[in-house]
Parts: sequence; C-alpha cells; structure tokens
Amino acid sequence: MHMIKEIKAKHIELFRDQPLLIRAPGRINLIGEHTDYNEGFVLPAAIDKEAVFAIQFNKLSTFRFYAFDLEQYFETEQIKPAPKEFHWANYLLGVLAQFEKQGTQIKGVDCVFGSNIPIGAGLSSSAAIECGFAIGLNEILQTGFSDFKLVQMAQKAEHEYAGVLCGIMDQYASVFGKKNHVIKLDCRSNTHQYFPFGMKNYVIALADTKVKHDLASSAYNQRRIECENGVQFLKNKGHKINALRDVSQELIESYKYKLDPAVYKRCHYIIKENKRVQNACIALEKNDFNKFGILMYDSHNGLKNEYEVSCNELDLLVDLTKNMDYVYGSRMMGGGFGGCTINLIRKGEELRFKDLVTKEYLYETGISPNVYFVKISDGGNILRK
Ligand code: GLA
Repeated sequence: MHMIKEIKAKHIELFRDQPLLIRAPGRINLIGEHTDYNEGFVLPAAIDKEAVFAIQFNKLSTFRFYAFDLEQYFETEQIKPAPKEFHWANYLLGVLAQFEKQGTQIKGVDCVFGSNIPIGAGLSSSAAIECGFAIGLNEILQTGFSDFKLVQMAQKAEHEYAGVLCGIMDQYASVFGKKNHVIKLDCRSNTHQYFPFGMKNYVIALADTKVKHDLASSAYNQRRIECENGVQFLKNKGHKINALRDVSQELIESYKYKLDPAVYKRCHYIIKENKRVQNACIALEKNDFNKFGILMYDSHNGLKNEYEVSCNELDLLVDLTKNMDYVYGSRMMGGGFGGCTINLIRKGEELRFKDLVTKEYLYETGISPNVYFVKISDGGNILRK
C-alpha cells in the first residue's frame, strides 16, 4: 500500500494532476519452461510482488515518464526506442507503439511507476511493467481491448523494444493471475485452466542466485531457432506437424542420429517437459506434492542437460535442496543463465531453508543469495482508490 501512495504523490508533485492507479504483478512458473514458444503448456502464477503505476493524459503531446525506483525522468515526443541510459522507458514506449499500431490516436501521457519485483531475478519485472501500462492505457484511452489483446500487445512490446523474442507466458500470467491458483496455459489455443494452489501445507521459496550471465538473451533466441529447426527438419521428412507440441517422443527418438545433436536434445527436452506439465496438473488434482516435486527436479535436469540453459549457480542451489527432506521439488525458473530457483517446501521450514541455502551458497560462491517466500496473487488491475 505504501508504494501506491508514494507513486501517486510523486505523480501529483510532478504533473499536477490526479492519476489513474494500476498494479500488475510479476510471476513464477511452477513447471513448463521454454515450452510457451513451442505451442506447449506452462504452469505459471502471478505473485505478491508487483509494479504500480500512476498515469494520466497531458495536453502537451509529450510522453513524460518517471521511474520511481531509479529516480530517473525521461520525456520524448516520439514513440521510438529510447537511448540506452533510459532503457526502462522502452517497456512503456514499446506498449505505446502497439497502441499506435492498432490505430489508436495518442497525444501526451504522463506516467510514474515503481516496482518491488526484483530485477534480473527471472520474475518478469519487465512483463509487469508492460502489462500494467497497457491496462492503464486501455482505460484512459477507452480502447476497450480485451485482456488477451493487452497480453499480446505487451508481448510484442518486449519483442520490438527489448529485443527478446519471448513467449506469451509472462505477460499472460501478469494479466490472468488468480489468487491461490496456478494457471495451466495452453500456448497453442491461448486458453487456460486454473488449478487451486492453496498453500496450507506448502510454501513457495525463491532462491536468487544474484547472477545473470551475458548469454541470457542471445541464448534464448538461439534456443527458439534450434526448436524451429527441429520442426522444419521433421516437416521436410513429410511429417504433418506445426510445432514440437505435435511431436511424440517416439518420433523424435527415431531421428536421434539424423538430427543435429543439439537440435535433438532441445526437441527431446520440450516434448518431455510438455508431458511433465500435464503430469504435474494430475498430481495437483490428487494433492500429490511428492510427485509434483519429482517432476520439478526432472524439469531441472532437462533444462540443465538437454536444453542447456542452466548455470553452475542454479545447479548448486538445486543440488543443495536434495539433502533437505522438507523440500519437495526445486528447479531453475524462467529463461535461465541466472535468476532464481523455485522451491516447493513444507510449511514451517522457511527459516531452516533460508539459513541453510544462504550459508552454503555463500560458502561456495562468495555471493549471499536472496531468498523470497511468495504468495500467489491476482493479475493486474486498476486500483479504484
Ligand atoms: C522467459 C520468457 C518466457 C518463457 C520463459 C522460459 O521468461 O519471457 O516467455 O519462454 O523465459 O520458460
């Protein structure tokens, strides 16, 4: 609540006008990594860490933005990428560009925003900024875009103004999140099903490696290409498929020695990971958190050995939990090469988990990790006072 008041006060101080207030959350992903851009399944949820916005029109034909946490002001008259030192403004400009592309006339807009989503931790702080701003613009401009349209526009903003060819998971979760539920999102039909994820007996702990290796965005785009190559290869062999979603394990295995070895591994991982999401949902319905946890560990193994997007720090954090009998599952989360692991742990063991992870990780790497305990929250919305 505090942050909202501060953001609003800053807006009034800078722009002398009553703003509209909006919030949009970051996300976690329980399982289903890198499957979204392969038309597969993911299981994300919105969390109680969020970005908050105060926005309003101005009569100046200028876009005036203030990043509360960085204490940086940026203004421009043009909707085009901002200079490097104001790269944060690109998330807002990227969204404005999408509204413009839809034929919306936009004059000037003022926006103050802040966030308590850790940056670079793989919790999609950028998606929260894009989605919150899109929700706000949709309201003040009265454009009436559907929630899903806003999700797509936010995703496009990331592609075109941040240069990451992300899938749809992060923006979808930030908009469609539901308190105490995970979202089983089908990234082919772009429809979802909520599964209750009451945390009476369990806690979700995020352990932040506090590293972000340079490879992250180049490797991300590279993985996409490798998956597309796999699909193209199978199409050329006459198989009627559109995406890895359509490929069975038997089919991919029958080409094991004909495919490029890296492409084979990527495809094999995606096919297995899609299955894991399905199985994880069955486990959830049965309240079988042991099974759910095993699937998380399997997911990590695949990400490490087949998809090759993990790193030593993430592996270390996952390995540490293997000796903790109160941890059900642990795996790297998000794009990879740094950021957080997500851990499902027994309630009441939070302190023990935090102490041990902190001590051991610090000992091995010299870095003191951050450990967060998160709750599952609602997706982005307008705050009516
Ligand atoms: C990033 C992307 C998502 C998704 C994950 C990996 O978070 O933004 O679309 O691909 O990586 O699952």
